[in-house]
Amino acid sequence: MIMTTAKPRVFITRLIPDEKLAIASQFCEVDLWAQDEPPPRETLLERVRGIDGLFSLLTDKIDREVMEAAGPGLKVISNCAVGFDNIDVTEATRRGIPVGNTPGVLTDTTADFAFALLMAAARRVVEADGFVRRGWWKTWGLTQLLGQDIAGATLGILGFGRIGKGVAQRALGFRMHILYYDPLCQDDPYAAQIGAHCVDLDTLLREADFISLHVPLYKDTYHLIDEAALRKMKPTAILVNTARGGVVDLEALYQALKEGVIAGAALDVSEPEPIPLEHPLLTLENVVIAPHIASASVATRYRMIQIALDNLMLGLNGEQLKYCVNPQVYEEFG
Ligand code: GLV
Repeated sequence: MIMTTAKPRVFITRLIPDEKLAIASQFCEVDLWAQDEPPPRETLLERVRGIDGLFSLLTDKIDREVMEAAGPGLKVISNCAVGFDNIDVTEATRRGIPVGNTPGVLTDTTADFAFALLMAAARRVVEADGFVRRGWWKTWGLTQLLGQDIAGATLGILGFGRIGKGVAQRALGFRMHILYYDPLCQDDPYAAQIGAHCVDLDTLLREADFISLHVPLYKDTYHLIDEAALRKMKPTAILVNTARGGVVDLEALYQALKEGVIAGAALDVSEPEPIPLEHPLLTLENVVIAPHIASASVATRYRMIQIALDNLMLGLNGEQLKYCVNPQVYEEFG
């Protein structure tokens, strides 16, 4: 008699490339939500029932209700993102479920995009494009579409982790003065090597010409950039956010941009996402906005998917995830 052991069941909450799906299907019985938009909440709750592993995206809210719906067989949650604020990690830990993420592989791609946004806002690239397309380009204008210099300006980096450091590295090529604020790394050897100065938050807000956000979203960073913070910035300052939308109070930002409290903003993220089309921020010329694509290069997205699949397989096999955000599950649950 041939004994067959059932493959573990996994739910993948979004379309992934065929070759990656084929790898997963060799080892798992895959249920794929084969659409570009996230599964509606009811569908998510239904489809996780009885699964062994979950492959999620940052748009999927994975909370106690989802873990409860999945049931006691859920062995791993693998988030295909470096950020994991969409997951109730405390609840996962309480249940002994390891949560995986995809750090490292998206650092350069995200830092590139933060810098692209900074440059686009400083030199009004998007406005200039619209200017030409609307037929407004009549002559070479001495005072037309004037922007701000990047070379030699002061860059304030809020959050000096991998991506913050990547942005600092790029800024060196522009001879920028680099200030950073990060309560976790006061004496950072990389900062010393490149001459970046650790300052308190107020100093950074007051002195920087460009402020780039690279902090994770959690209780203490929610609306870190609020009306009071915006009022401390220079009237010529440009704010760049490639971190999480919730770090910036969007209503306060709108008012600040409209009233000239700061000069411009470049956002890859917003709260909520997508930003509603009728949001007043979208009426302003001094805002550049992208749909959360900072890590969106072909190579990086493939690497992220592969790491998330590797984490998924390791979790299903009861092995330690390569990138685990709650390694304490291995101590507490053996
Ligand atoms: C993207 O925002 C990510 O967290 O990977």
